[in-house]
This record gives sequence, structure tokens and C-alpha cells, in this order.
Amino acid sequence: MSEEIKGFSKLSKDEKIEWLTKTCFQDSNSAKKILTQYWNSDSNLQKLHDEFSENTISNYYLPFAIAPNFLINEKIYSVPMTIEESSVVAAASKAAKFWMKHGGFKSEVIKEEKIGQVHFIFHGEKKIISEYFDFVKPLLFKNSKDLTKKMESRGGGIYDIQLIDKTSDLKGYYQLFATFNTVDAMGANFINSCLEDFSKTFCNSISKFKSKELKEKDVEIIMSILSNYVPNCIVKSSLSCSVSELNKLEPETKNFASRFVKAIEIANNDIHRAVTHNKGIMNGVDAVSIATGNDFRAIEAGAHAYASIGKYKSLSNAYIENEVFYFELKLPLAIGTVGGVTNLHPLVKLALNILENPNAKELMNIIASVGLAQNFGALRSLVTSGIQKGHMKMHLTNLLNKHNASENEKEQAYAYFKDKLVSSSSVEDFIKNIR
Ligand code: MEV
Repeated sequence: MSEEIKGFSKLSKDEKIEWLTKTCFQDSNSAKKILTQYWNSDSNLQKLHDEFSENTISNYYLPFAIAPNFLINEKIYSVPMTIEESSVVAAASKAAKFWMKHGGFKSEVIKEEKIGQVHFIFHGEKKIISEYFDFVKPLLFKNSKDLTKKMESRGGGIYDIQLIDKTSDLKGYYQLFATFNTVDAMGANFINSCLEDFSKTFCNSISKFKSKELKEKDVEIIMSILSNYVPNCIVKSSLSCSVSELNKLEPETKNFASRFVKAIEIANNDIHRAVTHNKGIMNGVDAVSIATGNDFRAIEAGAHAYASIGKYKSLSNAYIENEVFYFELKLPLAIGTVGGVTNLHPLVKLALNILENPNAKELMNIIASVGLAQNFGALRSLVTSGIQKGHMKMHLTNLLNKHNASENEKEQAYAYFKDKLVSSSSVEDFIKNIR
């Protein structure tokens, strides 16, 4: 068990490790060894990583993989993916390979509007706050000019600011609801800085307002923050081919295409299935987002909120029309290719280089297409052989590593399990037998 400590952040890295390993481990030396063996020998690189976050004591590795053969809008991409789950990259690559031969992904950014809110409380008459808003709105734009200048020169900035009356939901609750175009940046810092500036102007300008009915003390700003719910920042990626071409992919499964469509209908009608279905999409979305230095928590939160408009359902859709199979994914994606760690983390920079330094719209197209590929791979397995066959094959190496299998034992295992079901116990039995 750990124990209370004061001033942990003030300790040096070595002191932090010393305290932690002594407090949490009986064998503090082996814990220390694990932590330090992940340090980078390049001290500058290590310092860069140390400074990404407070209290860093080591680095946490995840695989950095490539899913090749993604044909998206007539351009071939090798897509970097960062994920620990064994079968995800394999499934994405397999799906990309099939769809490359069938026209590839057609993807477009439908909208690119980000949102931020200043939440405040006002108990007076609505007419007064509305009149004050009309008075102060030009000042909100004017006073934030220093912040927005650079963004405007890149083609972005503030779209609009509106006063929203939320008093029927919560007594006295109003919002300044602002919309932004942050171009190639995810824009969290830009939006939050603008919002904090708006809230300052909103309070400080009350004394300049002619109406004596509004006093500074009448407005209480509660908070100013961007929203990760971005239903107007949308990308749509689509695939299509003839039903007969699709059915040829799974010759042993009768009506593969219609079983595939049925799987989506099931997700649309059952939340338990829909969440797992969408999780499969997010396997791909998150992996590319992490590799390219994007905030996957924001993306996850926004995607699931979007999936629950009306009722929680599948983010993807499939249908058959005139013997053609259509498959598409519409996803809210607030991502960036500049700012954040994108120009700092060497692997993120490399990932963006691999993708030929896309702008945010292009990256949105790539991420959505990988999400769609991932969903295709998962549903393909689920409605045919089942997910475990492919998944456990990919997981076999992990299971063998758990038993410290030698290279020779691994070779034997790969040959043995070629036509057998992989499970935790079957691998354990196999290892016992050959040893
Ligand atoms: C596993 O990470 C993802 C799946 O469960 C997705 C799905 O069920 O559609 C296979």
C-alpha cells in the first residue's frame, strides 16, 4: 500500500523513484530496474518526455505499427497506429488490402466547427441580459483580437457568439455559446483562451452598459471551457462494391453481405451491442489519433455523445441497394496536425511525415477511414468465423511470451496452432507438453 506524501512534485526524479519503490515494493531494486530500463539513453530526448507531464518517472511503451495499403480519396497511405491490442493493426491492414482492390475509401469533411461555452448565472429579467449581450458582443470580438489575429491569418477564428437561455433546465443558467474554426489545430488552447477572455470582457463591460438595471454582481461566471461534443465537426468515410464481390470475400458464408448489414441493424437496436460495435471502430480511430499526437479522450467522449443522439446506436451504417453494398462511417472528430505535441514528440512528427504531413481535414479523412476499416474487419469476423479465431492467433505470441517461450518453442507453437483453436489453456498445455 502507498502512503501520504507532501511535496512529491518537488522531489527530483531519482528521489521520486526512491520514495515510490521503497514505499510500494518489498523488492525496491527490481521495481527501480524496470522503471529505469525504459529511460532513453539520449538525455535530451528523455528530458523532452519528462517535461510532457508532471511527476514523470519513466516512459510507457506502446507498439508503433503501420497499416499499409489504405487507398483514401485516390491516395495510398501507410497509416501509423499506436495500440497494444494484438489483432487491431492486422485487421485494419487486411480490410485496407481488400478495399484497395474495390475503389478504396471515399472520405469528406462535412463540417469543421468547434464549440466553446462560458457558463454563467443571472437571476434577473431575460430582456436585460439579452440587451446587455447585444451591447457587449462586438466587444467580445474586439477585445479578443490579440488572441484571434494569428488564427484569422490562417483562415480560422471565431464564427459566432450567441447568448443561450438555459433557465428552463437550471435556474438562472445562461451561456455564451461560441463557435470557432481552428483550421489545422485541435484548438483547445485557442478556444479556452478566447473563452476566458470573453468572460473577462463580459463582466468588465457591465459598468459601461447604459442600463442601471444590470450590476456587476448580478452576473456570476461559473466556468469557461471548450466542448468536446462537436456534432458540427464531422467527417464521413464510405466504401462500396457490388454485393457479389463482397460475397466472394467469404465464399463459405451464405449471404455474407446481408449478414453484415444485419449486424449493423442489431447494433442500432441494442445498446449493449452498439457500444461494443463502436468500441471496435474506436480501436482504429484511437490508434491513429494516438500515433499522430491527438487527444483520444476528447475524440472518444465526442464520438459516444454523437452516437447517442436520439438513442445510442452504431456510428457506422451499411445497406444494400440495387445489388450494391454501401458501408459508411460518420464521425465527429476534433483533431489537429499542428500544436499540442504534434511538433514536439519525435514519433508523432514521424507519424505525420509518414502520412505526408496532412492538414487536419486530410487527417480526419484518414482517421475515419481506419475506423471504418476496423469496423469492417470486426463485423467480417463476427458474422463468419467468429472473432476469436483471428484474435487469438494474433494473441498467441503474447500467450507464449507469458510462458517465456524460446524462439524454437514459438516456431513449434505457430506450426501446431495453424489449424487449432488458440486459448490460454491450450497454449499452456502445449508448452507443458513440449517441455
Ligand atoms: C475488440 O477490441 C473489438 C470488437 O469487439 C468490436 C466488435 O465487436 O464489433 C471485436
